[in-house]
Amino acid sequence: MGKVFAFFYDKLMGPLEKKWIARVRKKIVSGIEGNVLEIGAGTGANFPYYSKVKVERLVTLEPNPYMLEQAKRKANGLKLPVEFHQGMAETLPFNDDEFDTVVATLVLCSVSDPQKVFQEMRRICKQGGKIVLFEHVRTESKSLAALQDVLTPTWKRLCDGCHLNRDTGRYMKESGIIMVKEKKYFKGIFVEYEGLNPK
Ligand SMILES: C[S@@+](CC[C@H](N)C(=O)[O-])C[C@H]1O[C@@H](n2cnc3c(N)ncnc32)[C@H](O)[C@@H]1O
Repeated sequence: MGKVFAFFYDKLMGPLEKKWIARVRKKIVSGIEGNVLEIGAGTGANFPYYSKVKVERLVTLEPNPYMLEQAKRKANGLKLPVEFHQGMAETLPFNDDEFDTVVATLVLCSVSDPQKVFQEMRRICKQGGKIVLFEHVRTESKSLAALQDVLTPTWKRLCDGCHLNRDTGRYMKESGIIMVKEKKYFKGIFVEYEGLNPK
C-alpha cells in the first residue's frame, strides 16, 4: 500500500496543490528559521519554500521508503541541502533540544500515536521553539464530523492509515504546547496550527 500511495500522492494532490495548498505551504514555511525538522516530509512538497527563508539546517524524517525516494529527487538542485532520515515520529532519532522549529503538514492524521508524537516534538524542540502544522482534522460541524466518522475506516485503508476524524488540535493542546495560532479553513476541516514549546 505504501508504494501505491507514494506513486499516486503527487498526482492526486496536484489540482488541490495548484488551487490552494501550495499557497498555504509557502505561508507557513515563510515564518520559520534556524534548525528545522520536518516530520513526515513525504515527497518533499514543502522543499521549494525553505530556500527562501532563514533556515540554517533542514532535517527531514519519513517512514515510507517510496516517498523518501521521491523527496530525495525533489531535493536535487535546491540551494538548501536537505538531511534525510527514515523513521517514525513516535520515536524521533534526535537529541533533546536539537531544533528551533518542527514542521509537519498533513501528517498527524496518519501517525499511529499522536500523543507520543507531540511528546517527541516537545523533547527535540528547544524551549520557546515553534511547532508549525497544517492538518486536516475532525470538523466542529456535527453532521460533517459524523460523515468523517463513517468514512474513516475505508479512507484509512485507501490512504495509508490516514484518519479523516482526528482531533489533532486537542492532542496538541493536551501535550502542553502553547497554542498561538489556529487558523481554520472550510468549516475547520483544514487547520494551520502554530505552537510554542514551553519545556
Ligand atoms: C498525506 S502524506 C503528507 C506528506 C507531506 N507532509 C505533504 O505535506 O505532502 C502523510 C505522510 O506522513 C507520513 N507518516 C505516516 N505515519 C508517520 C509516522 N508515524 N511518522 C512520521 N511520518 C509518518 C507518511 O509516510 C506520509 O509521507
